[in-house]
Amino acid sequence: MHPKNLVSWLVSLAIIVGSVIAAVPTSPVKLNYYTYQNSVFSGQIYVQNIAYTKVVTVIWADASNNWSGYSTPASFYQSISGTSYEYWNFTTTIGSSGISQFYIQYQVNGNTYYDNNTVTATTSSSSSSSSTTKASTTGTTATTTTSASTTASTTAAASTGIASWVNNEASISYNIMYGNIDIAGTAPGFIAASPSTSSPDYYYAWVRDSALTMHVVVNQFNTTGAKNSTISKIITDYVTFQANTQTESTPCNCLGEPKFNPDGSAYTGAWGRPQNDGPAERAITLIKFADSWIGQGNNATYISNTVNTVIFKDLNYITTVWSNTCFDLWEEVNALHFFTLMVQRRALLAGAEYAARVGYSNNYSTVAASIATKIDTFWSSSSGIIQTAQNYVSGVSYKSSGLDVAVLLAAIHGGNGDGFYTSSSDKILATSLKIKSSFASLYGINSNTSVGTAIGRYPEDQYNGVGTSQGNPWFLSTVLYAELYYRAILEWKAAGKITVTSISQPFFAQFYSSAASGDVYTSTSTQFSTITTGVANAADLVFARVQKHANTDGALSEEFDRTSGFETGAVKLTWSHAAFITAALARSGTPSF
Ligand code: NOJ
Ligand code: NOJ
Repeated sequence: MHPKNLVSWLVSLAIIVGSVIAAVPTSPVKLNYYTYQNSVFSGQIYVQNIAYTKVVTVIWADASNNWSGYSTPASFYQSISGTSYEYWNFTTTIGSSGISQFYIQYQVNGNTYYDNNTVTATTSSSSSSSSTTKASTTGTTATTTTSASTTASTTAAASTGIASWVNNEASISYNIMYGNIDIAGTAPGFIAASPSTSSPDYYYAWVRDSALTMHVVVNQFNTTGAKNSTISKIITDYVTFQANTQTESTPCNCLGEPKFNPDGSAYTGAWGRPQNDGPAERAITLIKFADSWIGQGNNATYISNTVNTVIFKDLNYITTVWSNTCFDLWEEVNALHFFTLMVQRRALLAGAEYAARVGYSNNYSTVAASIATKIDTFWSSSSGIIQTAQNYVSGVSYKSSGLDVAVLLAAIHGGNGDGFYTSSSDKILATSLKIKSSFASLYGINSNTSVGTAIGRYPEDQYNGVGTSQGNPWFLSTVLYAELYYRAILEWKAAGKITVTSISQPFFAQFYSSAASGDVYTSTSTQFSTITTGVANAADLVFARVQKHANTDGALSEEFDRTSGFETGAVKLTWSHAAFITAALARSGTPSF
């Protein structure tokens, strides 16, 4: 690694300024120009358009030649017509530590290219004196023995293009997900959370995991798998299994019973119950199914006689229990939960529309509005996050930060397409940044920053996938960031603009450092493309993180070890694969709603 010396850059700058048309380079990445004035370091880079997803980073050393931690992303500016190159811009403010030299790193398709100015730098007193910065005091060629070279050599992310890996992993995920449904020797409609029967025993049908998984199946039935009889049989079996669980007696004696045995009977051991997100997720899935089934011209009596009974039981239950505390989706805390309220609100809103279509009278809209008012109280302006819970009653008591990916999962599973805490909402974006930062420093494997941050459930987590020690990153929490980012991009595109608020400003500043509260970037602006490209790149680095820790056969367990990176916890977790599929769908612009 030969980082550029600022003095030699000045020489290049003089040449470029003197030419009329800047010819594109022959290497994948090359500096066009830079400026450094009043502590603002900006410039433009030629980037060869090798693949859609690219990450271009400018890395510098401070005035004492210390390389650690100084970098800024460059963002797409425009294509250079008639060539395979694009201009990428960067701008950043250099603090009091100063800058002496820099180089450019370009990551694409699993390869990393550099522009470190292989032109021999010569010390020129006239160049030096023309520099207005501390850089002028550093007039020698950089040596190769800096920490930057070590960092750079470890940055190769994926060995193949991430797009093809994501597509391949999505099809593996469909296979593994379907492999966990309707297993021989189990009741029809049984969905194992994982095939693991000991350490941990996940061989149960959780209402939540089953509903979220079947939502993916219903999405397929509603799109590429329309009229597919194998798929519709899987869904009708699920309806049968769930209808049965609704009528049998359970320890909770309520619809919030969290999990059932492979034969469909109630699990009667001690457990955190009730969990009142389950009925809401089930109703959301079944309403989508009912609409799709009828839309495809199938037998409407099956819906009115069988499916609607399940749906309206769940919705009516929600109207009576939503303000009560219950156990959270992690089955640990008895309180009032943002995630649970969000999925309940969505279920009631979808239910109100559905009930109107089928002529079932109800109070769903009114209750949904009350739930929305309660949901708004979870925002903490002092900490700048959506808190995961309030009204703590019992259970895990060490969640002091209030940070929990459950809040982000709520945007995905409880988002109703109305901007109310959906992926692009400023409070969701702000919370996502705070959560990501908390995990970045928590897990050893996150010292590798060439791929996205590995994310767990919440920073204080002690569940290690089998017992209690230290929490680990989870696949579903990590890939969630890719889904959230791609959905946010789709929402900005649909809105035709990005609006920066004081709450979301730190989020946007990651991708466009000049983002300021009050800014509005219309979809034709360069800022809009800078941010959307940056966010898409970040999402793809999340996929690269998942790729790094996935089993060689593509199987995803529940967790991967925070230090070694190897898979741990329940193998082939159904929900991990369902979450991967929905993230891949969001990436391809067809998210599952
Ligand atoms: C099993 C639960 O499913 C999990 O969420 C929890 O963290 C552990 N038990 C430990 O309580
Ligand atoms: C533990 C998780 O915390 C919970 O959310 C999930 O339902 C079960 N495992 C089964 O996957």
